[in-house]
Amino acid sequence: MKIWIDCLRNEHHLPTEAYHELLTCQDAEVTDYLHQQAREVSLTQFGNKVYIRGLIEISNCCKNDCYYCGIRKSNTHIERYRLTKEQILDCCREGYKLGFRTFVMQGGEDRAQSVDWVIEVVTAIRSEFPDCAITLSLGEMSYQDYERLYDAGANRYLLRHETYQSSHYQQLHPQEMSAQHRQQCLRWLKEIGFQTGTGIMVGSPHQTIDNIIEDILFIEQLKPQMIGLGPFIPHQDTPFAQHPAGSVELTLKLLSIFRLMFPQVLIPSTTALASLGGDGRLKGILAGANVVMPNLSPSNTRKKYELYNNKASLGAEAAEGLTLLNEQLKTIGYEISMERGDYK
Ligand code: 5AD
Repeated sequence: MKIWIDCLRNEHHLPTEAYHELLTCQDAEVTDYLHQQAREVSLTQFGNKVYIRGLIEISNCCKNDCYYCGIRKSNTHIERYRLTKEQILDCCREGYKLGFRTFVMQGGEDRAQSVDWVIEVVTAIRSEFPDCAITLSLGEMSYQDYERLYDAGANRYLLRHETYQSSHYQQLHPQEMSAQHRQQCLRWLKEIGFQTGTGIMVGSPHQTIDNIIEDILFIEQLKPQMIGLGPFIPHQDTPFAQHPAGSVELTLKLLSIFRLMFPQVLIPSTTALASLGGDGRLKGILAGANVVMPNLSPSNTRKKYELYNNKASLGAEAAEGLTLLNEQLKTIGYEISMERGDYK
């Protein structure tokens, strides 16, 4: 098995059966070797530096009804909010002072925050913070709208494909959504020039190892600049409330596989990973992740942006907890980088 891992590190690709063996292998020694190789690649590419992104959750209103997501349209048990342009700019100002040079605006597909309005916000951030990267994570849009956002000064876009295979996609999403359209959006984003991020939830309901392998092959084709992976975590007010959470171990394995496939790709150690195990964030870094995204949203809205239950939001998860985050990273020999951290 270690030969496969060496092969992945050197060739950045494996035969399908080898991915299968690697993903199902229970041997701790092999897993440790996989993480160690991925970590070496990260250290060569980025040194012991971890990039930070300030996450601003701009709205928890959503027109979609994804079966796994806590802010789905049908959930009547949450208090909906949307930030104003001024509130978002205040988050950026606060973040800039703390040292953030990337702002990520994430939110549900909220019709009330029109594309024209988002363009206005992006334009304002671009002019006040010319040295910062602006990342958007606002779901599916038309080619023209993505293009207008790019022209207004947005640089990066995060849109997980969630799962490649159509029938599995349909088990997670209502009829009006499709895997094909999601993948089309990702190709558009890349074509327009966005540094583009995609990814999946690990252990989502009905997911098989073969699904994950198809995800790997899709990502291999797309060649995104960023890859986001987190374990599925149930939310009490969704149809998947009773479904068990995804495995941290499998998430970490996959993270290492992607690091070996794409040495330069930006991989966050996600909040979902941090939410499941106390030191999930650090485990992600040790498996080859090189980005963390502390929460920069106003503190009174953080709890309302609940995609899954028990979202980590205190201490090192919060933008104000940057010193704590840095202390934690230092215990494993890493530290925060204050650079913008573009894909190179
Ligand atoms: N558990 C884990 N991740 C989730 N997401 C949405 N709902 C959940 C959940 N219950 C992820 C999706 C989405 C990203 C913003 O959050 O992959 O793309």
